[in-house]
Amino acid sequence: TGTPLVDPFGRAITYLRVSVTDRCDLRCVYCMSEHMTFLPKADILTLEELDRLCAAFVARGTRKLRITGGEPLVRRGIMTLFRSLSRHIETGALDELTVTTNGSQLDKYAGELAACGVRRINVSLDTLDPQKFRDITRWGDLGQVQAGITAAQRAGIAVKINAVGLKGVNEDELGDLVAWAHGEGMDLTIIEVMPLGDIGESRLDQYLPLSMVRAKLAERFTLTESDYRTGGPARYVRVAETGGRLGFITPLTHNFCESCNRVRLTCTGTLFMCLGQEDAADLRAALRASPDDSLLHATLDEAIGRKPKGHDFVIDRRKQRPAVGRHMSVTGG
Ligand code: GTP
Ligand code: 5AD
Ligand code: SF4
Repeated sequence: TGTPLVDPFGRAITYLRVSVTDRCDLRCVYCMSEHMTFLPKADILTLEELDRLCAAFVARGTRKLRITGGEPLVRRGIMTLFRSLSRHIETGALDELTVTTNGSQLDKYAGELAACGVRRINVSLDTLDPQKFRDITRWGDLGQVQAGITAAQRAGIAVKINAVGLKGVNEDELGDLVAWAHGEGMDLTIIEVMPLGDIGESRLDQYLPLSMVRAKLAERFTLTESDYRTGGPARYVRVAETGGRLGFITPLTHNFCESCNRVRLTCTGTLFMCLGQEDAADLRAALRASPDDSLLHATLDEAIGRKPKGHDFVIDRRKQRPAVGRHMSVTGG
């Protein structure tokens, strides 16, 4: 195998997030505008090309692979990719093959995912109120997601819930979400909304600093620091009353870039070195130029050599434009 990928700040890149589609069956208000223009099919990598790119990263030291989107499970034939990627779990080259999903297709795919070596998944769920769920996702069915979560757990997959904290929308409900998730044996992480993509409304109206959320949760629960880490950016606390774990992902109020270990690949083969920066490398061109991977590896070295120190997200009253123009559904979170 090739030499490990290490960036100019000495950070080893061992975690690859792959967005397999920019499409989604939902339209969460913090993620997309109601009317989205999706990428033309011709620009999208085939499943074989995605598989080849993932293998190239694994050869360079990637230990954790997360499949995201858009909604990854709406991509046609997606289980073919999972079946193929499962070989890296079998050989021990990968520690973890995971998925971030909205859960809408999980009841259909949970069993197959488990058979492909998926042990842990993250499901995005911001509310337990069916009407509020419809408001946030614009038309999603909460019951369908809950059925998916149950199917995943029955298949032996550990589920983590991701909830984006939204001012005036679910901020009063976050304590109930903690109690519910922990009651069902799931970890929960709460995420600060990030200014990614034009969503047709103001981020300032949505933004809820998690320091406030934490203070409020501390009135109801006893929170104790924990050094549990998953390789992701969340900082965890233990909740004494539930015995569960609660994570905070705080890109705006507490930057975690110094320990960044990841890069992101989009479904068009564009490699983003940081979620909060525009700089990218075109791996599709390198991939298609030759059946041999040497140009791909050279492009990869050059790209990792440009990984920035961190993002520069700000939620600024005077700045009307998002910090980064592309939507979260393109980069995959
Ligand atoms: P695990 O810790 O492995 O469970 O996953 P994760 O929390 O890294 O992944 P997940 O897909 O659940 O992402 C949760 C949220 O964290 C998403 O909103 C991501 O966009 C955000 N996130 C993940 N990595 C980064 C990062 O490097 N920078 C920023 N700013 N946000 C990130
Ligand atoms: N800010 C923060 N989190 C977001 N997500 C989508 N858009 C945003 C945003 N602008 C979350 C989803 C999912 C994860 C991949 O990213 O809810 O849990
Ligand atoms: Fe779809 Fe996830 Fe974006 Fe919601 S946050 S619209 S479920 S990709």
